[in-house]
This record gives sequence, C-alpha cells and structure tokens, in this order.
Amino acid sequence: MCGIVGYIGVKEAKSIILEGLKELEYRGYDSAGFAIFNNNQATLFKAVGKLTNLVEKCKDFKTQGFSVAIGHTRWATHGKPTEANAHPHSGEATFVVHNGIIENYALLKEELIKKGFKFSSQTDTEVLVHLFEDELSRLSDPSKAFRAMIGRLEGAFAILLITKSEPDRIYFVKHGSPMIVGLAEDGEVHFASSDAPLIGYTREVVYLEDGMYGVATTNKLELHTLETDEVITPQFKRLPESKNFAQKEGFRYFMEKEIYEQHQVLIDTMMGRVVNQKISFDDEVSPSLFEGIDEIKICACGTSYHAALTASYLFERLAKIRTTSEIASEFRYKEPLLRPSTLFIVISQSGETADTLEALKMAKRAGLKTLAICNVDNSSIVREADATLLTRAGIEKGVASTKAFATQVAVLWMTALYLAQLRHSLPREKLETEINALRHIREVTKVTPTLHEKLKRLSKRYLHGHGFFFIGRDLFYPLALEGALKLKEISYLHAEGYPAGEMKHGPIALADSELFTIALMPKTLLYDKIKSNVEELSARDSTILAISPEPFELADDFITTHPHEHPMLEFFEMMVVIQLLSMEIAIRMGNDVDMPRNLAKSVTVE
Ligand code: M6R
Repeated sequence: MCGIVGYIGVKEAKSIILEGLKELEYRGYDSAGFAIFNNNQATLFKAVGKLTNLVEKCKDFKTQGFSVAIGHTRWATHGKPTEANAHPHSGEATFVVHNGIIENYALLKEELIKKGFKFSSQTDTEVLVHLFEDELSRLSDPSKAFRAMIGRLEGAFAILLITKSEPDRIYFVKHGSPMIVGLAEDGEVHFASSDAPLIGYTREVVYLEDGMYGVATTNKLELHTLETDEVITPQFKRLPESKNFAQKEGFRYFMEKEIYEQHQVLIDTMMGRVVNQKISFDDEVSPSLFEGIDEIKICACGTSYHAALTASYLFERLAKIRTTSEIASEFRYKEPLLRPSTLFIVISQSGETADTLEALKMAKRAGLKTLAICNVDNSSIVREADATLLTRAGIEKGVASTKAFATQVAVLWMTALYLAQLRHSLPREKLETEINALRHIREVTKVTPTLHEKLKRLSKRYLHGHGFFFIGRDLFYPLALEGALKLKEISYLHAEGYPAGEMKHGPIALADSELFTIALMPKTLLYDKIKSNVEELSARDSTILAISPEPFELADDFITTHPHEHPMLEFFEMMVVIQLLSMEIAIRMGNDVDMPRNLAKSVTVE
C-alpha cells in the first residue's frame, strides 16, 4: 500500500522525508522516491526495492536552508515495480506523488499523448503531472491549474504536487485516500498519509476530509472544498503519541485494521480491470493463456485454498469450464494425472508457500500452462508462473488472512467473468449483471459501527461449548470453511466448516446446546435447503447463530445482513461478519490475534 510524506521548512529535508518513509515501511512497498526543491534546484531520487537502496543512492545529497519536499513508497498496482513507475512522477518542472487510483487515466493519457506529452511510466499517476502542466500553459496560474487538474479526475486519490515556478509551496488534494497535514510551532509544514511519520514533528494536525484541496506554505495552510471552492477553516486535532498505535491507525490489532480496510483495497484490486461493462486484463494476462484449455485445476493452502474452492463454483457456473480445486500438500504426493489442456492456477498471499510452489513446479514439469494469483510481486510463485494476477491487497500483517482472502475471491470472480467473455458462455445481460454486482463489493465490505458493536456484544456468549460448526451450501460452503479456520487459528477453539447438507450424515450426532452452529443463510442461494438443514440442528438443541437477511425464528442469535440481488454480495458481506465475530471471540479470550500461537505468516517449509 502506497505511502506519502511531504515537508516545507528549513531543516535538512532529505532526512525528514526518509525518516517519514521509514515510518510507512510497515504498509509494504516495492519502490520509493522523493523530490526536493532546495536553493533553486530540483532534485529527484527513486529506487526499486527497500528504502536502503534509496538511502544509498542519495547518500551524497543534502539540503541547506529552506526546502520543499515530497516523498512516496509505492506498492505496485498499475505497472511493475520499476524505477520508472516509482513516484514522484515528473514533468517539465513539476513533481507529483499520489495514492489511490485515477479511474479515467487511460482517456486522459490518450488526450495528453495527442497533445504531444511523452509518458515514461505505466502508471495512472503520471497523467497528473502532464495534465497539470497542460492546464498551467493554458491558465498561467499554478493554483488555477491545480484546481482545473482535479476537476478532470475520476477515482480515489490523495495527491501532493510541487512546481518550480512556486518553489515554496505544496499543493494537495484528498478524495478517497487518506492525507494528514500538520503545522509545527516554527512554521514548518508536514504531510503524511498516516499518523506515524508526523509523530515527533507536530502535535496538532488536520485530518483532511474527502473533497478538500488547498495549498501550504511556511506557517500557512489554505483549505478549500472541491464542491464550492469555498475557503474553510482547518480543524486541528491532537496526534496520537505512540507510533505503534499510529501504525495500526487507531485499531487494536492489525487484523482489525485489515478487516476494516477491505473495502478500500478492493478498489485497487479492481483498478483498470473492471472497465465499462467488461473485464480487462490487458497488461497482465494474454488471452492466449486460455487457448486450448478445456479444464482448470486450482491449487493452494489454507485460506487461499478456500478462495480456490469458491472459484471452482464460479468458474463452472460462469465460464462453463470444468474446474477442480486441490489442497497443495495433498496434490504433491497423489501422483496426479495432468493433461496439457488443463490450466493450472495457484493462489497464494505470500507467494512463498512451499507446498503451493512445489505444486506449481510439478504442473510446469508436466507441460501445463500456469497462472498465479498472488499478493506479492516478484515472490517465488510469481517468478515461477507463466502469468500472474496480483491481488493488490497491500501488506497483510495479521497472521490470520482477511483482506488477502477478499481480494483473492475478487480476482477469481473477475477471472471467471473474463473467461466467460472469451468463451461467450454468458448472455450479455447476465455478464452485465455480474459486473454490476462486482462493482458493489466495495460497499458491502465496509464495516459499520452497528455491526461491529453487535458482534462485540454477541461474542461473550461464544467462549465455551464443545465446538463450532460453520455451515453453508454452495459458494457458502467454502466461506463456512474460512469462518471455521479464522475462528480456530486465533481463538484456539475447535471449529469446523461443513457443507450444511452433510451434517445429517454424521456430525449431527454432536448436536446439543453446547454445540454452536454458525449458519450462513443467504437469501439468493438455496435458502430453503439450508433452512431445513438448520432446522434439523435446532431440533437437536444446537445453539444457532444465524447470519441472514431473512428473519429465522429458530435462531438463538441472529445477525441481519442486507438483502442483495447477487449471491456474491451476500458472500462478501457475510465474510466480514465471520471475520469480525472470530476476532472478537479471540480478543475476549485474551489472545493476540495478530500473532496466534504456533503459526507463521509465511509457511516456507513442507
Ligand atoms: O501465503 P499463502 O496464501 O500461500 O498462505 C497459505 C496459508 O498458509 C494461509 O492462508 C493460512 O492458512 C492463514 N493463516 C489463514 O488465515
């Protein structure tokens, strides 16, 4: 996930920017850079990889006296992690750093190329700098040009921009991505995309709100609203004092922060891939990867396996292609019969899971085409696979996977629809319905205070008992597996995920009031079937927590979800419910949910 810092003042600006970027390292990044105006000179440094590479590159550079500086850490989303794609992006005399997405960048880029602007990166961000300079040549006023530039943008963004003709100021805007600005006692101005880099420099900051833009100079902050251009008075708030607390952005655990940010990272996951009413993987995967393919096999471990299982339903249903999913550690030793007409997909958050990597190598040795769905670019799995779709979740610190799962399922759903386009397996209206639904996952994954409060209170009733069964049918069976895995890995309580229709074939023998059933009861998929399965458990006195948009009178506890037209929207909303429920139970049990016992984030051994 990208990070931004900015500075106006007389201290040594390079060190301040580098320290700020260091504070943002925890968010994950694969390149970094900064631009500084000092003594009428503009200096730009960028480097791929760790910050130490950037530090090494600029080791002989120092500022003296007054400077204006902007810096950035980039987690590759649009375009590979290369130096050209790293921020700041520069024009003739302007530098810009940006978090978020410019959804209409392709159109703007085309327009600017026609006007003669040359692009040197694959990013959406670069359009900003050329667009600004284009407006500047028309309006001859940087502040008007900045306002005009913002007016052309669609998407979510936080931007800092500096330009040579006004080397004493930073232009900024916030619209969907975070941005904070602080004034220090000596008149210095500091910007950052989260609290941590500001701690120690300023005490009082303004958390910019969406739709705010402006300009900062020494000891001065001018704020406007985008809607009316009116000047607004900055509202200062006190900064937290602990950096560790700040890195968690006010949340108790990284896992909690990661659950809350799912609706934001999904914007990145879909960026440039959901275009108008189509799925486009233009710069990432060639359609030829799917030529001659009559079957798909997906292989993964843990949570990633649950995403694989979800995909096997989606691929068969939407792309009408035979699909199976396998647990990588099983697949490796089963002497599988592999056919070259099978596309082999692996899914991994880390890209380093030993079993998944070995399964991928086996498939390659057997001559299969391979595709990786992964969160970490340049990881072993990404390097090994023929093609990759990055999930773009940003770094995931909590050992229990949450946003990685959400983004994997989103990418897999997009892949199923992409294949449906190639294979003409869906009528146009159905494809459009799917894509419209896909666009809504951002909304349904947003955590509301009411839901979280309810789950917090409910959790105290689920701290004992002799076990949990998460049950669901169809797409909600893999989600039930995921719910059970979440709960057991952080609460250390025994939990199983089960297909609801299978309970009567054995597990129902366990049913009594101390057996907790978490029933996933979507309204849009096999509702009556799952309802009767839950009734069977209720008749045996199992304690039922039903999650459904439809009231269910036999439930002991009930979480009401919103009614949706599409099962996947119910899926994503229920996913958030089971993640939060598991986390709240584990917190009540006194566990560190970020670092559960016996578990590692990346399992690089068999
Ligand atoms: O990095 P990977 O996605 O390949 O990791 C696979 C599993 O180790 C991982 O999903 C694990 O199950 C998580 N702890 C689940 O929360």
